[in-house]
Parts: sequence; structure tokens; C-alpha cells
Amino acid sequence: MNPPLRFWMSRPAKALWAARTALDRAYESALAHRAPKLYAWRIRRRRGAAVQPEESARYARAVADDYEAIALAAGVITSRDDLWRGRRVLELGPGDLRSVGLIARARGADRYIAVDAYDIESRDEEKNREVYERVAEREGLPRDQWRELLAGTTVRANFADAVSDGRRVDLVISRAVLEHVRDLPGLFASLAPVLADDAVLIHKVDLRSHGMHRDNVLDFLLFPEAVYQQMASHLDLPNRVRAPAYLTLGARDGLRVVHASVSHRTSLDTVRALRPHLPPAFAQLPEEELRVLGLWLVQVGPRHPAAAPALDAGALADAPTDGVSAF
Ligand SMILES: C[S@@+](CC[C@H](N)C(=O)[O-])C[C@H]1O[C@@H](n2cnc3c(N)ncnc32)[C@H](O)[C@@H]1O
Repeated sequence: MNPPLRFWMSRPAKALWAARTALDRAYESALAHRAPKLYAWRIRRRRGAAVQPEESARYARAVADDYEAIALAAGVITSRDDLWRGRRVLELGPGDLRSVGLIARARGADRYIAVDAYDIESRDEEKNREVYERVAEREGLPRDQWRELLAGTTVRANFADAVSDGRRVDLVISRAVLEHVRDLPGLFASLAPVLADDAVLIHKVDLRSHGMHRDNVLDFLLFPEAVYQQMASHLDLPNRVRAPAYLTLGARDGLRVVHASVSHRTSLDTVRALRPHLPPAFAQLPEEELRVLGLWLVQVGPRHPAAAPALDAGALADAPTDGVSAF
């Protein structure tokens, strides 16, 4: 019997889980392909139902504070205010609300621009107001000032539309987005022309399973690539790109990674239990690289003075915890 077959035959419950997960996602993906607007509406409804204004405002503030803490740790700013003041900020994949943009503006950003591949921004004006008022309040502003700060900001589907005034962006932020991007080199190639030469880009990348595991957090890597393509083709599933690839991201477009650190790591035992059974592209990665399940990355443009350290995905330090949220 061939080894993959022996693996699945000896674990019938896991095989059943894998078959059901693959079929469910492939079906959903086919639906999303045929009816993309319906799919976006379903995501908006699901995400909207989960929004609790107080919690949502707290999350947004933690996200903004985290960008400051990581930028400080990376040495691209010397004080927290420096991150936003006078900058033109582009948020990639804001999700259902522009709360982080509101905070950026409240903290001095000159402009906030948002780009998302999916039309999932919340249409629930009442709920949005409840969140934005709380975000403004937490920034020490009058509750109603969010309207002025967010006026004229919209979520665009591509970078060219987002900077139609021709002025380049000097700060890019993203959280839990890059791991969903199907074509990372393509994304950076279209982002690069809208960046200032000394731009700073800060990303938090979530390399976990997004719920697609049964008894090992790496189970989602078991699906052969061809099967996973069918599951993910029109869904917002993780791209399964592993840590090493992120360390050279954007290099072709003149960007340099000046900080990378690990926000989540799994145990060596977890990796060893599954690695021999993974498809070759994952099985050949060193154990230490497979352990990395979350990354902070800071990139800079070609004329930024920060120096790029030599980075090895298997030997990355843990992310700073000082001033960084547990979200
Ligand atoms: C998990 S949500 C994270 C939302 C938000 N950043 C947060 O922290 O809650 C992922 C976001 O990335 C967006 N996204 C997925 N693929 C994208 C792409 N190729 N380009 C831009 N945004 C993308 C999704 O539509 C969604 O808004």
C-alpha cells in the first residue's frame, strides 16, 4: 500500500474529516464562483452578526497600538506618534470596518486609503456608528468626530483607484490579510508603483489553519495542492504559503524586510507528528520553519535608511510582547 493511503487508512476519523472539509469547501467555492455578490453578502452578514461595538473598538485600538509597538521594535520610528503623523496610510484588507483608519486619522495621518479584494465592508450604518463613536471616544475625541475623520475615505478594489490623485502612500498596514492573498508577487507588483521611495509597510501574517484542522494544527497542510486549489479557488481561505517566502516578499519590487519576528509557534512534537505525511512542498521544509504559525513583518522602500538584517525563517526571534496585544 502506498504511504499516503496507509496514513489515511489507519486514521479513518481523520480521513472522514478531511473528505468532508474538502467537499464542503469545494462546494462553497463553486457557489462563490457562480454568485460572488451572494458570497460577499453572506460574509458581510456573518461578520456583521459577530460585531460587538465595545469589543470591536477595543480590537481596533489594540491593532493600531500593535503597529506602533512593532514599528518601534523594528527601529523605523523613534516615538509612537511618528508612525501616523502627516502620513498617507493605506490599509490592506480592512475587513468590515474602517476603525483602524479612523484611529490613524485621529493620531495625525494626513490621509487614509483602504484596499480590499472583497466587498465585505459592513452596510449596517447603525452598528458602524456605534463602533466608530466608541473608537473616537477611546482616542479622546468627541464621539461624533468620526464622521469628519472618515469623510471621503472608501474601500477600493485596487491600488490605482485608491491613489487616483497621484500622491504616493508612505505607510501600508495589514493584519491577517497576506495569508489570504493568492498571488503575493502580483499583489506587491501592483502595490509598489503607489509607494513613496521611503515607505514603511507593517504586516501581521496569520499562518494558522483558520479552523481547518482536526487534531493537529497543521492538518490543513495535508490536502494535496490540486485538492486545495479546488477548495480555495473562490474562497478567502489561507494560501498556505509558509514563513520563508514572506522574508523575500516584495524584493523584486525594491522592498526590503527590515524586521521579521514570530508571533505564534507550534511545538516540535506537533510538527514531527505530521511532517512525514505532508505533501512534498511542505514535508521538505525544515521543522523550525514549519513551526512558525504567525509573523510580524516590516518592509521598507528602496530609499528608506533602515538596514536589512540577514533573516532565516528557522531562526527568527519571538515577536516583542511589550506593548503588543494578545489579539
Ligand atoms: C481575516 S480578514 C482581516 C480583516 C482585518 N484586517 C482584521 O484585522 O480584522 C482578511 C481581510 O483580507 C481581505 N483580503 C483577502 N484577500 C485579499 C487581497 N488579495 N487583497 C486585499 N485584501 C484581501 C479580506 O477581504 C478581508 O477583509
